[in-house]
Amino acid sequence: MSEQIIIFDTTLRDGEQALQSSLSTKKKLKIALSLEEMGIDIIEAGFPISSPGDFKSVEAISKKLKNSIICSLARCVQKDIDVAAEAMRFAKNFRIHIFLGTSPLHVKSKLKKSFSEIIDMAVFSIKQAKRYTNDIEFSCEDAGRTPINQLCYIVENVIKAGATTINIPDTVGCTIPHEFSQIIKSLYNKVPNIDKVVLSVHCHNDLGMATANSITAIQAGVRQIEGTMNGMGERAGNTALEEVIIAIKLKKNNLNLHTNIKHKKIYKTSKLISEICNTFIPSNKAIVGTNAFSHSSGIHQDGILKNRKNYEIITPESIGLKPIKLNLTSRSGRAAVKYHMIEMGYDEKLYNLDILYNSFLKLADKKGQVFDYELEALAFIDQKENDNEHFRLKKIDVQKQSIGITFSSIELYCGKKIKIAETKTKKGLINSIYITLNKIANFPIFLKNIQLITKKKKIHIEISTKVQIEYKKRQFYGIGNAKDIAESTALAIIHILNNIWRANKVNIILKNIKK
Ligand code: KIV
Ligand code: ZN
Repeated sequence: MSEQIIIFDTTLRDGEQALQSSLSTKKKLKIALSLEEMGIDIIEAGFPISSPGDFKSVEAISKKLKNSIICSLARCVQKDIDVAAEAMRFAKNFRIHIFLGTSPLHVKSKLKKSFSEIIDMAVFSIKQAKRYTNDIEFSCEDAGRTPINQLCYIVENVIKAGATTINIPDTVGCTIPHEFSQIIKSLYNKVPNIDKVVLSVHCHNDLGMATANSITAIQAGVRQIEGTMNGMGERAGNTALEEVIIAIKLKKNNLNLHTNIKHKKIYKTSKLISEICNTFIPSNKAIVGTNAFSHSSGIHQDGILKNRKNYEIITPESIGLKPIKLNLTSRSGRAAVKYHMIEMGYDEKLYNLDILYNSFLKLADKKGQVFDYELEALAFIDQKENDNEHFRLKKIDVQKQSIGITFSSIELYCGKKIKIAETKTKKGLINSIYITLNKIANFPIFLKNIQLITKKKKIHIEISTKVQIEYKKRQFYGIGNAKDIAESTALAIIHILNNIWRANKVNIILKNIKK
């Protein structure tokens, strides 16, 4: 029978350690509830002794979790354990996670103790924690660099003291899969009471081995994996849980294992966490990167359209994404263009694929990626009108006024007319430009994302602004380049307003065709 792998998430503890500023209680609660919805078994909500803010967050989360078990970190210090238990007092069930360095380096140079003192501290702390709960995890910090006999000895003693989960962290991410697997196998072979506990691993990604080490540990017998969503965490981060979870799902027959995770919630949770934490997910990141399920070359796109299995080992739907994403670039073939048109609901009778493909290639050569709304405009709006921008910037003036107030005045060509709008707001420069421009365009839009990139040119600085705006549930992307933030932002938004204007025009043209 397939055995369960327990998924332990430490996004709110190890993951948060890597952020430049700590998250508010409200944000942490949002993340915890989304992790619970995804089916995470154990949520390490924080390190309550570390700050009053962390204590408050753990306390708030412990009141709300219904299915996931909450866990808090504590050093081998009486006060840490008492405070961890107090922060989780509202929870039905909770786990105390105690850690202590066990490698010679940590024992001598960090803790300045002897190894026997380390054993005493660990055993004493577990007994203290037992006063509050039976669910106690003990982590041998820097286990990856702890001599195996020393590691076996401490593990045997902490199990005797009452620990119920033993975690083997590769704290500095220095091991490679074969080595790490040997550590786990030795623990199973040499520790007489090892069958009394769940063995867990916690891998850091300094050599890019975190997922591989976690999987090899599972094969060697561990039944709990620790990690974070998107691989957030100290230095190069922790094991990316989404990678391990999907690997277990994909190899379920080979491993004979499963998790309790609701796979379809993975993408949503990953995105929420990256937005709340303001951490960027690289486009080629396994499982959750924007390119992880997109196909670019003509050969791949054609292959995918014939049979998705040609280039897809897991379906995007299985993590909660839309099926098939074909990037439209100059490498795309007719099949991809036709597929996009069908996806948008356009029958081939409505347009000429050969003509569309030719104008698509010209645009793709000029600008790289072509978006669906641009393809639609190419199909239904004639070339001359497509080249003409309806909205064009005439003048922009943005000033910081009295404390916190930004004043924007923008003049815009709208076809042959000129329109002017002004705004005074406390919402900052970017919002002030966005609000002013939309006073003129008057579309029901929603600013989703904005990214500023500064490029150093020979004699000046160029600002490149990328904007994402939602309009009637459709995503529009714009870029603006200028010497200052105000102008580059305005140009990026105007770029989008023009595409929305064209999309509306396509609607009118199609309505007339149907009549
Ligand atoms: O990396 C590590 O060793 C840790 C422990 C506290 C588990 O984060
Ligand atoms: Zn760690």
